[in-house]
Amino acid sequence: MADIDWEALRASAREVSTKAYVPYSKFPVGAAALTDTGEVVVGANVENASYGLTLCAECALVSKLHVDHGGARLVAFTCVDANGDLLAPCGRCRQLLFEHGGRALLVDSAAGVMTMDEFLPGAFGPEDLEKVQ
Ligand code: THU
Repeated sequence: MADIDWEALRASAREVSTKAYVPYSKFPVGAAALTDTGEVVVGANVENASYGLTLCAECALVSKLHVDHGGARLVAFTCVDANGDLLAPCGRCRQLLFEHGGRALLVDSAAGVMTMDEFLPGAFGPEDLEKVQ
């Protein structure tokens, strides 16, 4: 989509990365997405002493999507590290983003903007559940 301001989205991601709680990895991550209602939703990673309970930046973003944006759909997504360099969402977060943006969600990446369908081909999703009553 030509009218997406990717630089502004990346700047939002970088800004929110400063709010990350990362005492263990010391690897702040910021995520930002444009919704189908034209709003920007952000999230930062929040770690835990038990390590495995770490919440990725995408988890925070999706929670805010529902709490602050009425469950709008995701249209475009970006994720950066503390240097502002683009990060590919981890496997779990690809599934999480797929649920809220579908195959057409545009995902920023070092290799260029891609669709979620390219990032998570053949994804399992909500429609699969509807096939079985
Ligand atoms: N992290 C994210 O927040 N999102 C990703 O997609 C990849 C990894 C976080 C989790 C952990 O706090 C830190 O990066 C190092 O793995």
